[in-house]
Amino acid sequence: MGAAFHLRCIGCGAIHDPWEAIYVCRRCGDLLDVVYDYDRLPAGLRAMWRRRPLSVWRYREILPVGDRSKVVTLGEGGTGLHRCPGLARAIGMRDLYVKNEGENPTGSFKDRGMTVGVTKALELRMGTVACASTGNTSASLSAYAAKASLDCIVIVPSGKVALGKLAQAMVHGARIVAIRGNFDDALAIVRKLCSAYSVYLLNSINAFRLEGQKTLAMEVADQLGAAPDSIIVPVGNAGNISAIWKGLVELHRLGLLDALPRMIGIQAEGASPIVDAIRAGDAAITPVASPETIATAIRIGRPVNWKKAMRAIRESGGLAEKVSDGEIVEAQSLLARTEGLFVEPASAASIAGLRKLVALGAVEEDERVVCVTTGHGLKDIGIVIGRFPPIEEVEASLESVRACLADPFVRAAFSFGDGFGRAKAR
Ligand code: F0G
Repeated sequence: MGAAFHLRCIGCGAIHDPWEAIYVCRRCGDLLDVVYDYDRLPAGLRAMWRRRPLSVWRYREILPVGDRSKVVTLGEGGTGLHRCPGLARAIGMRDLYVKNEGENPTGSFKDRGMTVGVTKALELRMGTVACASTGNTSASLSAYAAKASLDCIVIVPSGKVALGKLAQAMVHGARIVAIRGNFDDALAIVRKLCSAYSVYLLNSINAFRLEGQKTLAMEVADQLGAAPDSIIVPVGNAGNISAIWKGLVELHRLGLLDALPRMIGIQAEGASPIVDAIRAGDAAITPVASPETIATAIRIGRPVNWKKAMRAIRESGGLAEKVSDGEIVEAQSLLARTEGLFVEPASAASIAGLRKLVALGAVEEDERVVCVTTGHGLKDIGIVIGRFPPIEEVEASLESVRACLADPFVRAAFSFGDGFGRAKAR
């Protein structure tokens, strides 16, 4: 038997049957949350979880599936929580960690959600799944759909999806349609498609998908052995920050976490409706009609989960900050050079945001901070390649290679100093 759960509207509190394909409240149209019968959970959860490998399904007692033998999995979760002393020094911090979600099977945090969401699609007997995407959602959904032998439809904003992500959706056999519009337009279309036809919607408006994503919070708590002071998350459609907060609140409620961290959401300057609303003290966002940023994964002007995300930030006593494209690419390089972690631009927004907040004094030097890096750098190499000079080509001889390495520009770029092969100064 699976966990006992139902769907509850976050606005009017109406309860809905979890065994039908439903995404928003039938009564008022607001977002839904999965709620468990916490009193019926088995005792000794912490000890039970410790005996299993670190992964999404370690926490299966608080995941909304009926028959656990039917789970569609590619081995998601269990990503590294990297202690980052080099990055910390560069930013002016002491106790900094990166939860690197690029280590998931398709290279982003979306896999945590899709293992649950695609399992639900099977449970609900849907033959086709669909999403709108800035790239990663489509890469992940198409992989899990392939694994489950489901048809997959993907709608993307034309010309605004990194090639690595599109290649993933292509190779897994998704039916891809590019629209002359942005992500928000694509999401509006796919929502209509899924309500008109028997197609299961797996964007983050799907509350079951977010249940998988909440396991990032459980993993961080298990890896650190406690809650950090702050968790910093890049925000696009605003599902992930909402899911992580829900996971933390659930752990707290179950008596498995003593303190709750503050949630810090980072958006790109050209796509920052949530940051603007939090700053202005507004009750609702004002959508951005034409969002723009090189971090195409978070190029979103009308985040569907804004209400959940703003609650997470406010309830946790958190913050919201925006960063420029220049700050994002600088942070991407800094993380890569100090810690050996290559993340995509949207992911680097969390690092850029932290850097800015430390400089502003909004995050203290001795806080214990976890930055979530959401996707792998190899998905979007165009921006990196474009920032560096072309690679030099020489004749295939030691002499030519030595001459090239002795070039002052090359020496400066690679910090060779005065001689070759010298141990790096500490
Ligand atoms: N980082 C990356 C790498 C993403 O791909 C996304 C969202 C986010 C952050 C933001 O997460 O939407 O939960 O606030 N990508 C979606 C997609 C929109 O279609 O792949 P969010």
